[in-house]
Amino acid sequence: MPLQDSYTLPAAADMHVHLRNAPGPIASLATPTIRRAGIDTVFVMPNLAPRPVVSVAEALAYKDALQQLDSSVTYLMSLYLHESITPDVIREAKRAGIAGVKAYPKGATTNSQWGVVSFDPFHDVLKAMEEEGIVLNLHGEVPSSAADGVTVMNAEIRFIPVLKGLVEKYPKLKIVLEHCTSADAVEAVKALGENVVGTITAHHLSLLVDDWSANVHHYCKPSAKSPEDRRALLNAVVTSNGKFFLGTDSAPHDITSKKGKGNTAAGVFTQPYAIGYVLTALEEAITRGDIAEASVTEDALAGFLSGYGRQFYGVAPAARQIRVTRGGARVEESLRGEGVEIVPFRAGETTWGVEWL
Ligand code: DOR
Ligand code: ZN
Repeated sequence: MPLQDSYTLPAAADMHVHLRNAPGPIASLATPTIRRAGIDTVFVMPNLAPRPVVSVAEALAYKDALQQLDSSVTYLMSLYLHESITPDVIREAKRAGIAGVKAYPKGATTNSQWGVVSFDPFHDVLKAMEEEGIVLNLHGEVPSSAADGVTVMNAEIRFIPVLKGLVEKYPKLKIVLEHCTSADAVEAVKALGENVVGTITAHHLSLLVDDWSANVHHYCKPSAKSPEDRRALLNAVVTSNGKFFLGTDSAPHDITSKKGKGNTAAGVFTQPYAIGYVLTALEEAITRGDIAEASVTEDALAGFLSGYGRQFYGVAPAARQIRVTRGGARVEESLRGEGVEIVPFRAGETTWGVEWL
């Protein structure tokens, strides 16, 4: 059996979560599961519908509503990059403690219909972000286009020149390439300066294209790719040195949006067992030979799951510790709330459990 049976680690930070509208039935189900996973700090995504979070007042009201669902979690809030955002909004956001601005390429994913077609009109906003130290969070995909030969399999790779262009134009801007899924993205982030980092989800450490092509609950954007890509992500986790940290992109959807008549909603719900899933994925990767057992050190785990993300966002180190134990949790078949049902990743399986110390 690879790895120790348990690890004592600092409380985790999940720097990419979707909690949906609050108050609301999905937020009521998903938010209380953050701490169950051993996480005390989250970076909250702004792609709400029917209206994304585009003002400081909206972000603060959203934060308030989340605090009412669980006041023991630190919520780092974000705005949705949108034409209504001005440099003054950025300065106001900085004063209000908002951590980042998320850019969704229009049409690339869930609720990206208000997203960005070109970064050119946002020049003054990006300059203000660079000056104020507000993070630019990138959904790093170009929209699929048969005419341009773009599909979900190369949408991230095609985005890399856009990332490089932004870095060239705004060299001091803090940038997160969210949910990296490809070896090319990992290499691109590694090659850029220390103000450019990447998040990696728990599910992309396990899944391949074949998994989501067979199971709607494994479908997300960016989609899982090849064994080589997965291996690059796993190696990025254990050799991160601050360049990569956890951002689960946990994305709860009611089962009817996954299995209804329309297109399947993109998103894998990993929140309640996020840390357990990472350990399970590392264990499986060792067995496959994708990573060396010796590379999974306590320091590497503590950095990827907790320290590096906090450091990047200027959040204090975790005050509490957790213990993760092999086989300590069994994932339920689904979570049910007021009129909603959410199927978690690895439903019915066993993963590592988490205790608060
Ligand atoms: O799979 C995804 N789901 N990717 C995203 O970028 C958005 C997210 C969501 O909001 O459901
Ligand atoms: Zn996301």
